[in-house]
Amino acid sequence: MNNRKKSKTDEGTSETKNKQMILGVTLGNNFGTHPATWRMPHVDPRSYTNIDATVEQARTAERGGLHFVFMPDRLFMAGDPTSASMFNMDPIITLSAVAQATARIGLMGTASTSFTEPYLLARQLKVLDVISRGRAGWNAVPSYESAAFENFGKALPPRENKYERLHETMQVVHALWGSWGYEAGEPDQAGMYADPSHIRPVNLQGKHVGTRGPLPVPPSEQGQPVIMMPASSGYGLQAAGMYANVVIGMPNSIEEGRALRNTVREAAVQAGRDPEEIKFVAFVGYTVGDTERQALDARRALDDQIDVHGPLSRLSAYLGLHGELVRPDEPLTAAQLASVRAHPHDARSVRAVELAKAGWSPRDILAHGVFDPNPYVAGTAEQIADHLQEWFEAEAVDGFVTNFDDFHTGIGDFVDRVVPILRERGLLHDGYEGETLRDHLGLPAQYGLDPRIATGPAGKTR
Ligand SMILES: Cc1cc2nc3c(=O)[nH]c(=O)nc-3n(C[C@H](O)[C@H](O)[C@H](O)COP(=O)(O)O)c2cc1C
Repeated sequence: MNNRKKSKTDEGTSETKNKQMILGVTLGNNFGTHPATWRMPHVDPRSYTNIDATVEQARTAERGGLHFVFMPDRLFMAGDPTSASMFNMDPIITLSAVAQATARIGLMGTASTSFTEPYLLARQLKVLDVISRGRAGWNAVPSYESAAFENFGKALPPRENKYERLHETMQVVHALWGSWGYEAGEPDQAGMYADPSHIRPVNLQGKHVGTRGPLPVPPSEQGQPVIMMPASSGYGLQAAGMYANVVIGMPNSIEEGRALRNTVREAAVQAGRDPEEIKFVAFVGYTVGDTERQALDARRALDDQIDVHGPLSRLSAYLGLHGELVRPDEPLTAAQLASVRAHPHDARSVRAVELAKAGWSPRDILAHGVFDPNPYVAGTAEQIADHLQEWFEAEAVDGFVTNFDDFHTGIGDFVDRVVPILRERGLLHDGYEGETLRDHLGLPAQYGLDPRIATGPAGKTR
């Protein structure tokens, strides 16, 4: 089936025209990615601690054939408790409960390389992979806020040291994952449980971390967890080129996406890998409505719960105007429109000016998500499918991680209304082709450290 609508840019190569997009969905606090969702009347404010809410959201995403759920993490109290946390209490423990209640969807959890000893990281993540029958992924981050380091009695280290530890940790974790070889075989009740000649110590010692091994956890259905890493500083991109199967970024325009995707692919080549093995996905945010107006009103109902004074002043500056936007519910006046100016290098400012010129009021411009950290569309299912298609076919991304203001309604609306359009256009698989996360993402098999990068900067043999 391939009924692809001609996209606005329509610059995709023949290869992209048969390719299918990767789709993940952010989960976390059980409310949504808008800070006011927990206050809404239809939301149970106790959902933060309710695993049934997480399970229901993951099952909805699985019903739509989405490739994975993604849980970001912070190792400190982010924000103040007068408002709900934006993060999950503990992604890996939560995902192990989700594993039991789902069958196909991938489970991508964030864990930092800066604190936990690699033996424990390797064990938790591989056990999640084994109990989910090959559906685990690890968003490996080095942490970057001093508040996280303070919770471990440390000062924020120089970036170089932080990444030195990341490299060592990644190499030790991979070595431990590979330490129970496939050749150790299946349990033989009349003979050995496993062949010890294929379960070997790894004996790695770096400057920051080390281990003897082996790790007593056999391979999962996909061998070992899939690795995701964020597109961050140059150090981070270099590391992603070496270890990541998936890189997540936050481009604000198709051009930024293309540039970042190329950088990520180049980093893989530099590490001796094939660029096709590394998938670049971008954060995007959506609210689906019957009409664009209805979707914008859903966002405005959330914005009404927070003080929009600050965002309105910021918008005025982004529009190149001086002074307050005193009539936030009216389109800009002719005089204001005559003096709006976009900052040409800021995609958000360019979008804000476009929206103002199209006659949207300042409150509606904000409801279009111009200040969201990622591209956002409040619109009909068709408009959202068009957005996904345009970015994908322009080769800005290999896929997306979707954020919803309200997980409760947003994931279901997306699955029931946008997913069928993407399938109809031949952009998204029609249900799961395989059993494991590696299958869903079209990744090659890997067990242990990739031998092409085994001589990396860390992990000297003891
Ligand atoms: C898309 C994206 C997702 C990220 N997710 C997390 C996360 O869940 N937890 C975290 O501590 N850091 C997260 N980060 C931060 C990066 O890991 C990195 O620390 C940050 O971009 C700063 O770069 P640096 O650490 O190289 O200085 C994320 C970054 C990006 C771009």
